[in-house]
Amino acid sequence: MKEKLNEIKEVILEAARKARQETGDIPAPQDPEPFTWPINCTVGPGLEGAIASESKIGYVNGSKGWLVYRGYDIFDLCAYSTFEEVSYLLLHGHLPTTNELNEFKGKLAKYRILNKTLRIVMSFPVEEMNPMAALRLGTNMMRQEYSYMDKEVGRPKLDDAISSDEDSIPMETTPMGYANAIYEFKTNLCKNPIGMRKTLWDASNTEACYQLIAGVSTLTSAIVRLKNGHMPIEPLPGLSHAANLLYMMTGHVPDPVEERIMDIALILHADHGMNASTFASLVVASTLSDIYFSVGAGIAALNGPLHGGANEQVVHSLLDIGGLDNVKAWVKNKIENKQKIVGFGHRVYKAYDPRARILGPLAEYLVGGRSDCMQVIYQTAKRVEEEVLEQFGREKKIFPNVDFYSGIVYGCLGIPVELYTPIFAVSRVSGWTARVIEYLQKNRIFRPRAIYTGEFNKEYVPIEQRNRDV
Ligand SMILES: CC(C)(COP(=O)(O)OP(=O)(O)OC[C@H]1O[C@@H](n2cnc3c(N)ncnc32)[C@H](O)[C@@H]1OP(=O)(O)O)[C@@H](O)C(=O)NCCC(=O)NCCS
Repeated sequence: MKEKLNEIKEVILEAARKARQETGDIPAPQDPEPFTWPINCTVGPGLEGAIASESKIGYVNGSKGWLVYRGYDIFDLCAYSTFEEVSYLLLHGHLPTTNELNEFKGKLAKYRILNKTLRIVMSFPVEEMNPMAALRLGTNMMRQEYSYMDKEVGRPKLDDAISSDEDSIPMETTPMGYANAIYEFKTNLCKNPIGMRKTLWDASNTEACYQLIAGVSTLTSAIVRLKNGHMPIEPLPGLSHAANLLYMMTGHVPDPVEERIMDIALILHADHGMNASTFASLVVASTLSDIYFSVGAGIAALNGPLHGGANEQVVHSLLDIGGLDNVKAWVKNKIENKQKIVGFGHRVYKAYDPRARILGPLAEYLVGGRSDCMQVIYQTAKRVEEEVLEQFGREKKIFPNVDFYSGIVYGCLGIPVELYTPIFAVSRVSGWTARVIEYLQKNRIFRPRAIYTGEFNKEYVPIEQRNRDV
């Protein structure tokens, strides 16, 4: 087994060597230049190009295909680290010592037990629900288990936070920047209300983040079991996060290879710049709502097929192709009809996505020696990649993204397709929570503007005079 684990490490290191070879002539990024707000930038629709905040958490270089968490290259983290270490790193800014890691693991083990939340969730028709909807529901129900935020005394009061009144600033003025932007907390918000157990009274409390990181995996596993007519399984205290996730889903303790591959997949999805779901979490947090609502917003945003939902669509489309012989024509047809090929392209990466660089070879490693449908799906995927690169040409810069091979990896681990997106959430919850905590240190409510292109000076017409049929 040790040999197999070494083989997996070699697969990652080989992917890293290839990535460094292809981007080897590109100098490493320098320390960021000091800057002051406001910043000039060119903004497109959907806030494309806008700079929303500073962050020390993660760095994505889309033109080179680099991904860095807190200064560490994603290839090194995948080769040598674990999801627990990476989550700690994202939240706290440094890799944990042995004691810190053990304490963190102990907390995750404790918070993985979600009996009260599961009891509430099971009163809903989970088996008929979209798993992401069930996950969002369950995440919100975790508030009941761990916090008193739903009780009147636990809610922030309006005068608990001092803010500049955004709408009182004439919209024509330029953004003021930090000097006027920071929301201050009155010191009394930092006191635990009398009579309540000391828990999530502060939205930036890291304990709540631990609860969410642990709990989202328990919920995801329970949801798949309920959908298949089984009862949820309690986590095993001695297992890693990745192993527990697989165990709670399938009822079998995974072997070390399955555990390692799951672990790597979790590391790879943990954070990715100011992506749509992270932004959604931050928008919610910026109103001084709480971390459960923030993570719920992240889950909602992740669900869409342009974001986390793409991994499920990839597998469906690879099956739809109907065999290797159809690939060329299928890709040609998509391109000619200007249809998006799911699992390709990225808003940020205009180079090969480093996560796909790892997941592709891992998928190949996993299907090796198999002769089932996963082998066929993998071969189809490989051929689709070749055709897309060939027919588009490298200059079009449409490469496989993280979602292209992840489904094949999950499929080989026995995870059903409808769980691919929830598993993305199991991992990304680390990034969401870390970034919410960071953002709240210098909070400014998100309030971009829209350009009004509608009409003015219209005269009100009473309903009985509105006759559009003539
Ligand atoms: C992720 C995505 C939304 C990024 O979109 P974007 O940055 O807005 O890129 P655009 O839609 O502006 O595309 C730029 C060009 O590349 C093409 N393109 C982008 N992604 C493509 C894809 N997956 N298949 C085919 N063409 C694609 C567009 O058609 C467009 O071509 P044009 O300039 O001739 O009009 C887009 O690539 C996509 O929809 N991919 C498929 C869904 C997916 O895999 N999502 C998961 C992302 S991790």
